[in-house]
Amino acid sequence: MSNDLEELSSKAATEIEGATDPRVLEQMRVDLLGKKGRVTELLKQLGGMAPDQRKAFGEQVNRVKETLSAALERKAQQLGDAELARKLASETIDVTLPGRGEDVGALHPVTRTIRRIERIFNSMGFESVQGPEIEDDWHNFQALNIPESHPARAMQDTFYALDGSRLLRTHTSPVQIRTMKQRKPPIRIICPGRVYRVDFDRTHSPMFHQVEGLYVAENVGLADLKHDLMRFLSLFFERDAEVLFRPSYFPFVEPGADVHMRWGDRWLELLGCGVVHPNVLSAVGIDPERYTGYAFGMGVERLAMLRYGVDDLRLFFNNDLRFLEQFR
Ligand code: FA5
Repeated sequence: MSNDLEELSSKAATEIEGATDPRVLEQMRVDLLGKKGRVTELLKQLGGMAPDQRKAFGEQVNRVKETLSAALERKAQQLGDAELARKLASETIDVTLPGRGEDVGALHPVTRTIRRIERIFNSMGFESVQGPEIEDDWHNFQALNIPESHPARAMQDTFYALDGSRLLRTHTSPVQIRTMKQRKPPIRIICPGRVYRVDFDRTHSPMFHQVEGLYVAENVGLADLKHDLMRFLSLFFERDAEVLFRPSYFPFVEPGADVHMRWGDRWLELLGCGVVHPNVLSAVGIDPERYTGYAFGMGVERLAMLRYGVDDLRLFFNNDLRFLEQFR
């Protein structure tokens, strides 16, 4: 082997052996064996050599090329293994460390209250039904004995669609109408859901929840209404609740009442109720001479306020986790 070739070979082998960085090693490969590498350049000299010289020199250069190529590959493998080992060592997971703790979510207090109300009424024989939140005037007002321009419309400040054809239901009572149109008595249902009014203070929110109740059959009257509501309230609050039944006016019942419950040194209105007005039964095609019924509509947030001791109903809708986490 020529001295130059031998020197190149042994020098390169030493450099490869000493390499510690895969990128430097790759650069060495390019410098030696790449298109313009030093070994490749030597091979290019073959063309100008005499045939006997060419064969011997060619074999030598090829041997050097193979040796260096093998050395580069070995070293690359070594460096790769070392890198992997380093990574594994630094990324080791200590499975004996205590966990950081995952937070488990919880149901919103209003959802929990609705479910509690439903459970109790379902156990008393009431079936849960649903109705749309976007309503028309007939279901929300007219069929409930509230004609257009009737002063009772002012009792519920309504969100109307701009063209006036639709509205956001102001109470769950339109679901009574939809159900009575579809079914024949006896009917015993509750309908939980969202309702909307232009209202906002400590005990009023523009979106809130009601649970409507309706029982229509032969001989249903005020005594049944009072009995069933008292039973519900004592099951809901798990005690004999101090309540006040006060006569009240709703166009869709006669007689009508409000039920209030003690709230600190005041009374808080929980629900409206009464005996279904004959005009309402007639509007949905039920014979008021044969059937009678009672209905009620309770404010879910009001019940939740009393059950959980919350003194501002708007807290239920702020979604402040410090508040919500107390109801786990
Ligand atoms: C009604 O909505 C009647 N539909 C209830 C009814 C049904 C009466 C069937 C007779 C027969 P009222 O507007 O009073 O009635 O509302 C019922 C309950 O919803 C109230 O007693 C109160 O608990 C709750 N409530 C009313 N407005 C709001 C409000 N803005 N925010 C939170 N709760 C409210």
